[in-house]
Amino acid sequence: MANPSLLILPGDGIGPEVMAEVRKVIGWLGTQGVFFDVEEGLIGGASYDVHGVPLSDGTLERAQAVDAVLLGAVGAPKYAGVDYALRPEAGLLKIRKEMDLYANLRPAQCFEALADFSSLKREVVSGLDIMIVRELTSGIYFGEPRGIQDDNQGGRVGINTQRYTTAEIRRVARSAFEMARRRNNRVCSMEKSNVMESGILWREEVQWVHDHEYPDVELSHMYADNGAMQLVRNPRQFDVIVTDNLFGDLLSDAAAMLTGSLGMLPSASLGAPMANGRPKALYEPVHGSAPDIAGQGKANPIATILSFAMALRYSFDLGDHATRLEQAVERVLADGHRTADLMGVEGGTPLSTSQMGDAIVAALAR
Ligand code: IPM
Ligand code: MG
Repeated sequence: MANPSLLILPGDGIGPEVMAEVRKVIGWLGTQGVFFDVEEGLIGGASYDVHGVPLSDGTLERAQAVDAVLLGAVGAPKYAGVDYALRPEAGLLKIRKEMDLYANLRPAQCFEALADFSSLKREVVSGLDIMIVRELTSGIYFGEPRGIQDDNQGGRVGINTQRYTTAEIRRVARSAFEMARRRNNRVCSMEKSNVMESGILWREEVQWVHDHEYPDVELSHMYADNGAMQLVRNPRQFDVIVTDNLFGDLLSDAAAMLTGSLGMLPSASLGAPMANGRPKALYEPVHGSAPDIAGQGKANPIATILSFAMALRYSFDLGDHATRLEQAVERVLADGHRTADLMGVEGGTPLSTSQMGDAIVAALAR
């Protein structure tokens, strides 16, 4: 049987550095008899510099063909003046859209060794383990009409359209209910049905999927602004949160910060099953390209390594290896290993990106 295939897109900023550490983990898996066919490509500014576009047709074709894509990060200040459609971020939006990766899974998990890093009190976040399922390919980031136009009164008008169809809501709701069944069986759906028609539809369709297909899962609804407040007040009340593209973007950043470090959080973006039964999939850390520390060996590779763990679990049916990798990360943190972003008041010398990768591989081998 052929090895599963993986396309690595390191992207910009710290992307290449953190991805190099995933390569070490892939190497270690090889010693365990788990092999991947790995190829690498360009995305974001790195692609723009070479091809003049943030995502070339060739790269997109490869992304559609492989079993999973692993992405680092996109974006750098030097592209701020570039046309909107050619910015690094446009490459990311395009690959999500073209692969139809509608379900974005963003876990926010508090590692015991890092509970004091949270801006909230340890007793509020200790043991936190929530999963945000963000709709990723529709809503206001993609809706038409959009643009900036003359308002014919001497000014301009900026337009974006929030738009959701029944089918788009139902499929991401199913992803959330499936996820809940693997976890603690609770889903909280967030929208603004008090002010938005798309929110009313969202609530009704999520409820429909629940009543017809997942009556065994506990479902609640919350206005997204209250959801933001509850996330900060008492985050452990949640198991799975399902929400639209825009609210999910905001709420997942807030949830990420609850855990103390954005450098720790992985994500998976999943689409419909391919012919081989695996879902279309792209895995990426939640943090961005961090241009301020790029190329200095300071970045924390854990979010990217944990994104690869999600790939092992959701794309390759290697849940045991995923768990082993997650436990290795936990052990390394418990042993006091820290990259610069995780240095607390106690001081000490931080590990470099590469040293953290080595420590994780060493813990795997233990
Ligand atoms: C994210 C990011 C992206 C988004 C940007 C970089 C386009 O903020 O993945 O959350 O808004 O989706
Ligand atoms: Mg975001």
